[in-house]
Amino acid sequence: MVEHLVYTERVTGSSPVLPTYMEKIQIIKQNGFNFLWVNNDLWMWDTPMERILQEKIASKAYGNVLVAGYGLGLIQKFLSNNKDVDNITTIEKFDGVIDACKEHFGKIIGNVIIDNFYNVTTDQKYDCIIGDIWEDISEESLERYIKFKNKSQHLIVPGGKIFAWGQDFFEFLIDKNANLKSI
Ligand SMILES: C[S@@+](CC[C@H](N)C(=O)[O-])C[C@H]1O[C@@H](n2cnc3c(N)ncnc32)[C@H](O)[C@@H]1O
Repeated sequence: MVEHLVYTERVTGSSPVLPTYMEKIQIIKQNGFNFLWVNNDLWMWDTPMERILQEKIASKAYGNVLVAGYGLGLIQKFLSNNKDVDNITTIEKFDGVIDACKEHFGKIIGNVIIDNFYNVTTDQKYDCIIGDIWEDISEESLERYIKFKNKSQHLIVPGGKIFAWGQDFFEFLIDKNANLKSI
């Protein structure tokens, strides 16, 4: 088992009396696959099915691409192999994730901005935005998917494309809820 553990300490506010918090970032290698844990939540894995899903999303992207969430940098790898993609920028909430990936894989793919995607402010617009900042494809994550889509509207060029992990499921839930309301 190979484990890379990164602790990031940050002051949560401007007041020196406010507490600091620690993020525990782990990349654990098991049976040849990598698993990313953030504060004891399993955030990403690179098992065969996950590779297929991420590659499928990456194959649809083009131009200047913005990714929400670095994870294990899997989609960034597939995007970097896509000839239609000119530029990859990722917004990642935890700098410890980037440090752990750098240590574990020896490099980071594309540009990285450390920020919370939902709060990011920039005038830059992207041709495609890809979201993967929820742990599960479940009803509980629907609210975050909608929040991601709303935020993306401010960051995308007219006619640009928004993609996301679990998008078909979330869009199905949105349609289902709309249909139920109309009955
Ligand atoms: C599922 S992983 C992304 C996997 C990535 N698509 C890949 O191919 O490896 C989610 C990542 O999003 C980050 N994250 C979670 N919430 C976020 C937020 N609000 N803004 C930016 N990054 C966030 C997590 O720290 C984690 O690194």
